[in-house]
Amino acid sequence: MSRTARVLDALGLGTVWIRRDRLAEIEAANAALAAEQMHDHAATAASPAPAQIAAEAVAPPAPVKRSPAPVVVIPNPAAKPVSSLKIEVVNDARTERIAGLDWAALQQEVAACTACALCHSRTQTVFGVGTLEADILVVGEAPGAEEDKRGEPFVGAAGKLLDNMLAAVGEKRGKQVFITNVLKCRPPGNRNPGVEEVAKCAPLLRRQIELLQPQVIFASGRFAIQTLLENDAPVGALRGKVHSYRHIPVVVSYHPAYLLRNLPDKAKAWRDLLLLQQAIASARANVS
Ligand code: URA
Repeated sequence: MSRTARVLDALGLGTVWIRRDRLAEIEAANAALAAEQMHDHAATAASPAPAQIAAEAVAPPAPVKRSPAPVVVIPNPAAKPVSSLKIEVVNDARTERIAGLDWAALQQEVAACTACALCHSRTQTVFGVGTLEADILVVGEAPGAEEDKRGEPFVGAAGKLLDNMLAAVGEKRGKQVFITNVLKCRPPGNRNPGVEEVAKCAPLLRRQIELLQPQVIFASGRFAIQTLLENDAPVGALRGKVHSYRHIPVVVSYHPAYLLRNLPDKAKAWRDLLLLQQAIASARANVS
């Protein structure tokens, strides 16, 4: 077994062999599946939430022909989804105040936050996991049902994959790796974050980064990437190089929830992890 195959195996991903001439067909099938999941998700909004719908569905959902089951539209008070819009952090008194908070005060700020409507539906806020000593920061999208219940990011199925991905590059959540999300509250029904929600949460993430001063940031999925890099290009167009957020190296990749459903992109995610590993090694070499 090759080294890559062994690592993919350890990640629980297995090796994915796809004939080039079948790739388009498989991607189309994935897109249809994603559309179907979104449909199912909307139609069952009141029942236990299914796995979080990743932001990076491979293609705009194709219309799915179905029997006349009623589609329940999950209300999104934050209106426009984050798709092609730049997130604008409002430089108001709140943003200024947050910029001066220390770690403990920031935790309290998050716990008591009522800046957007998500405060009404959340069970609790999810600040992040890890310590101030962490030199790697992982940024995901938003808490899902399990995270909302437990108050810790990435504890569901996507979280298991994230843990495996970190383990594959010799890292572990906790002391050296701080994990957080763009949003600190769960969007109801696991819908995508809205522009205003991201804008309200952005000063909190910015302050977390200022206080943590990580050596490397791993941006997982398009919401994290878009928020940090202020770039709305697709993940596929941004991956493969090291970006920068306020002089901190940023490695980007697909969201684990997306990878769970999109086999062809798992090999690319492995290459992103190798890039992350290199970025971590060179950042650590520079500080020691
Ligand atoms: N997906 C995320 O982006 N974050 C979590 O905490 C859980 C799932």
